[in-house]
Amino acid sequence: MSTITVNAARTNAPISKYIYGQFAEHLGRCIYGGLWVGPDSDIPNTNGLRNDVVAALRDLHVPVLRWPGGCFADTYHWEDGIGPRETRKQIINTNWGGVVENNHFGTHEYFELLRQIGAEAYVNGNVGSGTVREMAEWVEYMTFNGVSPQADRRKQNGHADPWQVKFFGVGNESWGCGGNMRPEYYADLYRQYQTFIQNYDPQHPLYKIASGPNIDDYRWMDVLMDRAADLMDGISLHHYALASKWEDKRPALAFPEAEWFSLIKSAQKMDELITKHSTIMDKYDPAKRVGLIVDEWGSWLDVEPGTNPGFLYQQNTLRDAMVAAVTLHIFQHHTDRVHMANIAQMVNVLQAMILTDGDQMVKTPTYDVFKMFVPHQGAVAMDTVDELSSTTSASVSKTADGYFVSLCNFGLDAADDLAIAFDQPVTGVTGTVLTADAMDAHNDFDHPDAVHADQFSAVTSTAETVRATLPPKSVVTLQVRVN
Ligand code: AHR
Repeated sequence: MSTITVNAARTNAPISKYIYGQFAEHLGRCIYGGLWVGPDSDIPNTNGLRNDVVAALRDLHVPVLRWPGGCFADTYHWEDGIGPRETRKQIINTNWGGVVENNHFGTHEYFELLRQIGAEAYVNGNVGSGTVREMAEWVEYMTFNGVSPQADRRKQNGHADPWQVKFFGVGNESWGCGGNMRPEYYADLYRQYQTFIQNYDPQHPLYKIASGPNIDDYRWMDVLMDRAADLMDGISLHHYALASKWEDKRPALAFPEAEWFSLIKSAQKMDELITKHSTIMDKYDPAKRVGLIVDEWGSWLDVEPGTNPGFLYQQNTLRDAMVAAVTLHIFQHHTDRVHMANIAQMVNVLQAMILTDGDQMVKTPTYDVFKMFVPHQGAVAMDTVDELSSTTSASVSKTADGYFVSLCNFGLDAADDLAIAFDQPVTGVTGTVLTADAMDAHNDFDHPDAVHADQFSAVTSTAETVRATLPPKSVVTLQVRVN
């Protein structure tokens, strides 16, 4: 039994649409095969990008896409990925499987992907193995509108107009794959590198993001905020949900009940991490100008048997849908500090929206959650009074059409009877549900529609109250119209 009380006058900040952001790294089959097949492929494509995947992504209203990494970002030299494709350098992807990276997907292809899916740019620069000059020139290449060596090169390569880069990351995981640095050292490097990233378009200044802590490394946050908060707009945080421990990731399918709960509990730790990191940030930035950017999150499980361990290809089940819903709710409860989040990753890697195999594609249960939650993007978060069962999580926002309510009952057996009290007459309610019998229900290439969102009918309204029965293992969204 759960209750939610909504008072029209009690609102929080708008929910940044950017918390529905995504991440695509040069890792496994995320870019190559998943998004990019090249213009000569038999797989239907537009300018080299898969039509089926692009169409599916458009329905998610992806607000922003982080690229090119991840760990790959600190080995990436952007000049390898421009100019005629056939002459681009072949390099080794040293982080992910040691495979050949032919650089066919580079800066121009990334912005073409953004154009096709309608997303904004979050480019992650290379601090670990790149120079200040290299980073500064990449920004000049992408954003300068005038005569300059890099802007001229961009024009010669077929793009006369500059692109708009909304977010720019200065290194990734600089405490680990990005250079194994101490926070004191990285803080100095951050100050130096960001100095030379010019705002060539004063109407659209870059939102600069420092490489932040790993999970609960609170000292890293303290040192960075102390030494560089005034020079950053955001600082990143990475936290992956694990069913057991890092060294023993556990299967994505056919897992025991205990691992249903352990994975969701690990995802719920996000709330504590945001709260504690925010408290440290408050010391240096009480006005909450600097955003906490959770630019990598999601389930990290065993790779599918028989696949390259360096490709991080995992199946995606109803349990991952719970992880997505619970985590998105946590972000929505921290709208004041969390300006952006990027699930890892978009296609074929970790907690993906989409899986592909040759010319086949399936949408995962995580895809459904992102689609169901679209109305929250940019809506005003409501400051509700909740009494929720221990396995229910919820979030309410005010939209142009009334209220939008998202709910997750991750209990395995019991339905949850929910009452939502409004202080206005309810004139109508409709709903959508994602659920299945099996904990590891999932879509595969033989059964692409085994799990999918459906119309939800276990909901009624009388006067100012909406009542719903949330099935076990379900994500439910409600559109509530009020007078
Ligand atoms: O998302 C996979 C990897 O996880 C990223 O490359 C890295 O930043 C993190 O450790």
